[in-house]
Amino acid sequence: MVATALTRRIDGLIVSNTNGRRLRRSPRGTAAKAAALSGRPLFEPSTRLLARAYLLTGGAMPLIGCGGVEDSETALAKIEAGANLVQLYTGLALKGYGIVEPILVGLSRALKRAGSTGSANWSAPGRASGAGSETTEADAYATSD
Ligand SMILES: Cc1cc2nc3c(=O)[nH]c(=O)nc-3n(C[C@H](O)[C@H](O)[C@H](O)COP(=O)(O)O)c2cc1C
Repeated sequence: MVATALTRRIDGLIVSNTNGRRLRRSPRGTAAKAAALSGRPLFEPSTRLLARAYLLTGGAMPLIGCGGVEDSETALAKIEAGANLVQLYTGLALKGYGIVEPILVGLSRALKRAGSTGSANWSAPGRASGAGSETTEADAYATSD
């Protein structure tokens, strides 16, 4: 999909949508049923996928990190994995608009912290580790279990 998006010069990709994986048990332990996964359970797999997309595109295409974003830590993780923008749906639906400001405040603090150590360049996502190690953060997310 990334190769096609690059070839067709797609403006950007949202990584990712809900996961249609079949659950063995519903959250209440009742009968198995097909369910689209969103929110917290989607955070890790979608962040891994985002990091892989970033490594494949080499930063050549805007990526929107989505899946399980619910606070500044999860938003920051998306940026570190390669997102230019962050999208949230379930977090907003469950916690309301009030979660937006703390996310922005937390990101702003993290940016200031990173800036004061001279290590961050958030205009180039996934490159918070400094020159010569551009893919380190995305690599870590892409390969984590
Ligand atoms: C109730 C619901 C409806 C959604 N409708 C759409 C939709 O119409 N089109 C779409 O591309 N994604 C849709 N999504 C996917 C979300 O935009 C998002 O990609 C996904 O839920 C993962 O992010 P989240 O964990 O923040 O919810 C929907 C998700 C939910 C939970």
